[in-house]
Amino acid sequence: MYLYIFRIVVFWQLQKSVLSNTSSSINYIVTDSDDNETPQNGFVIFSSQPLNAVSVTDKVATLFKGLFSFSYPVDILRIQNCSVVEIDPDFLYGQEITNLHIIRNNIKVIRTHSFRNLVLKSIDLSKNGILAIEDMAFVNLSNLEEIRLSTNKLTVFNSRAFASLPKLHLMSLMTNKISHLGPSSLDFVQKNNFALHLLYNRITYIDDNVFKGLSVEDVAITLDKNLLEEISVNIFHNHTFDLVSLRKNKIRTLTGNLSAQNFRIKLMDIDDTIDKKAFKQIQAWTAWNNITLECWGCLSETEKNFAQPLRLQNSFLMVFCTLVYKCLSGLC
Ligand SMILES: *[C@@H]1O[C@H](CO)[C@@H](O)[C@H](O)[C@H]1NC(C)=O
Ligand SMILES: *[C@@H]1O[C@H](CO)[C@@H](O)[C@H](O)[C@H]1NC(C)=O
Ligand SMILES: *[C@@H]1O[C@H](CO)[C@@H](O)[C@H](O)[C@H]1NC(C)=O
Ligand SMILES: *[C@@H]1O[C@H](CO)[C@@H](O)[C@H](O)[C@H]1NC(C)=O
Ligand SMILES: *[C@@H]1O[C@H](CO)[C@@H](O)[C@H](O)[C@H]1NC(C)=O
Repeated sequence: MYLYIFRIVVFWQLQKSVLSNTSSSINYIVTDSDDNETPQNGFVIFSSQPLNAVSVTDKVATLFKGLFSFSYPVDILRIQNCSVVEIDPDFLYGQEITNLHIIRNNIKVIRTHSFRNLVLKSIDLSKNGILAIEDMAFVNLSNLEEIRLSTNKLTVFNSRAFASLPKLHLMSLMTNKISHLGPSSLDFVQKNNFALHLLYNRITYIDDNVFKGLSVEDVAITLDKNLLEEISVNIFHNHTFDLVSLRKNKIRTLTGNLSAQNFRIKLMDIDDTIDKKAFKQIQAWTAWNNITLECWGCLSETEKNFAQPLRLQNSFLMVFCTLVYKCLSGLC
């Protein structure tokens, strides 16, 4: 009976894939629980046994509902360099995938409900040339811890794309073209110690209410290598941060209420791209608020060479874990 139903399901999916634009069968490699790799080929990417990984190795223009059919959970599904241009809503419906890597394709838009009601722990969508993410693209992912959207072409950070992600603690938007951060950008965050990486974007403006609605503690935000010329300290009011990193911007002025103390920042990281006047302001403001200020620009070349591997190892989060350089003596 079971076999009969299974056959019908596979047959139905074959029909569906033939009817949609996939005209040829797809090559993929399955890795079983003993790490043996077996090349496979079919209209549907399927398996009826437990698997560690599945890697699609063929061109697949659209990831559609019914393309994947696994009878058991799959730890890693890799769809890398497969020329994917479109992801249909609910394309993984009913599939238990833990880690999903859709990297180096040509996806322009991440649509509403692309990732919904799944058990995914991590999603990596790096290097796809993504221009936009629609509202509610990532919803009700109860196990999701990490979203990586690095090296795409996003110009807007759309916080409405994210909802009901109770375990999310890392979002990387490194190397995009985001130009500003609007009000309530992080109101979807539910977990303390959330880290947001915005390095290598084009941010020139941050709204005073950027963290409005943010109800969690100890956020880490890296804004290095952006185009900020001015930053208002009001953005921090009523919130707590583990790290605020602002290296390689062009900050000339600190604005906002410099005497309000209704916030906490453990560590602020700046460098000598900040001008002298703003540095004096930051120095006074951080001292007044007991913020540890670290200043990359204060270090000699030897010190930098020594510190670099430490920084990379800790992916920018635990800056100078063993060396604490303080820059309170006006060396910059
Ligand atoms: C991507 O796939 C194309 C063929 O479709 C191949 O020529 C190219 O080397 C691949 N690139 C990488 C980085 O794997
Ligand atoms: C959320 O997703 C889970 C599966 O991860 C599902 O069981 C649950 O019904 C979904 N909730 C809603 C409101 O859709
Ligand atoms: C901070 O919180 C206090 C008390 O809850 C409130 O009165 C004040 O308006 C808040 N300030 C900001 C900048 O949100
Ligand atoms: C700045 O903050 C201090 C302390 O909370 C407050 O007394 C003062 O009125 C604020 N100044 C302005 C201009 O809002
Ligand atoms: C900074 O530290 C000093 C000394 O420990 C303390 O008196 C002061 O209240 C602290 N300021 C803030 C904003 O936490």
